[in-house]
Amino acid sequence: MIILGIETSCDETAASVVDNGTVILSSIVSSQIEIHSRYGGVVPELASRKHMEAIVAVVREAIKTSGIEPEQLDAIAATRGPGLIGCLLVGFSFAKAFAFGLGIPFTGVNHLEGHIHSVFLEPDPPPFPFISLLASGGHTGVYLVTSHTSMELLGQTRDDAAGEAFDKVAKMLGLGYPGGNIIGKLAEKGDPSKIDFPRSYLDKSGFDFSFSGIKTSVSRFINTHSAQYKEMMSDIAAGFQESVVDVLSYKLLLAAKEKRCEHISIVGGVAANRRLREKIKNDAGLSGIKVHIPSPAICGDNAAMIAAAGYYPLINGGFRDLSLDVFSRAL
Ligand code: KG4
Ligand code: ZN
Repeated sequence: MIILGIETSCDETAASVVDNGTVILSSIVSSQIEIHSRYGGVVPELASRKHMEAIVAVVREAIKTSGIEPEQLDAIAATRGPGLIGCLLVGFSFAKAFAFGLGIPFTGVNHLEGHIHSVFLEPDPPPFPFISLLASGGHTGVYLVTSHTSMELLGQTRDDAAGEAFDKVAKMLGLGYPGGNIIGKLAEKGDPSKIDFPRSYLDKSGFDFSFSGIKTSVSRFINTHSAQYKEMMSDIAAGFQESVVDVLSYKLLLAAKEKRCEHISIVGGVAANRRLREKIKNDAGLSGIKVHIPSPAICGDNAAMIAAAGYYPLINGGFRDLSLDVFSRAL
């Protein structure tokens, strides 16, 4: 089954053609970062307009580079939510109209289930059940995944998402938006043990997260070292990153042990972080747990993961529900 995936939940207009939910024939991601970076974050109204401008060209490019003709598409899957309503509506409405025009099934995909499916686009996907840590700019949660269509949220952030904390710390340090990648690179030049930022485990036996405290600690450090902090940027980045990575790794492995899962995955934009990948591989290795991490290109928002997640409901039912609506918050 050849599926066209469409993703427009935030600031990336993406389209992808995926075969049988596992093989990427094409994946096009058109980022709006340049437009939003001057405002220090995503401006929803601007983002919707940019999706409108980009969607036709992005879909056309995805079909062209996949080497298939539009008539060879078997179904279309588009992100339904969570995300920015105006943005979601662009991709979702386009997908419905295109599916209707081609006379093929259409389904809506939960963006978070999309991220979790990114590991199925890699050669060695995890067997069920497995634990997945989803860490992105909008969400941070730990899931028990028992099938392609059933995943239980075990715990999530009570305030900021992990990626949001990276973005906010980058902003405090004057490093630009989005900051995750910039902090990650800067941290590689720093010493994580120079500044001991606190670890926020909350209840050490639970799976909820909190990242607003670490953000405040970094802000306080900058304020109390206003004369010297510019010379300490890489150590601040490394210390902050280590604090976030320690907590993410701890909770992920705790969940794997408690739920007796031998396989874990990390997905979402933050899963591209080198230190997080290294730390989780190392910690899991010590416990005999196998880690599955998608390549950095499919950690961030993309449409291949949406086509991959849409494949399973589509093969089971062949939806054609054009009355489906989008949603802004996690269902
Ligand atoms: O999954 P994603 O592309 O979009 C959402 O669904 O939110 O995640 C974007 C987030 C941003 O907060 C970005 O700063 C963060 O992922 N990010 C990183 C890295 N690359 C992207 N965070 C830490 N280290 C990275 N290398
Ligand atoms: Zn995402």
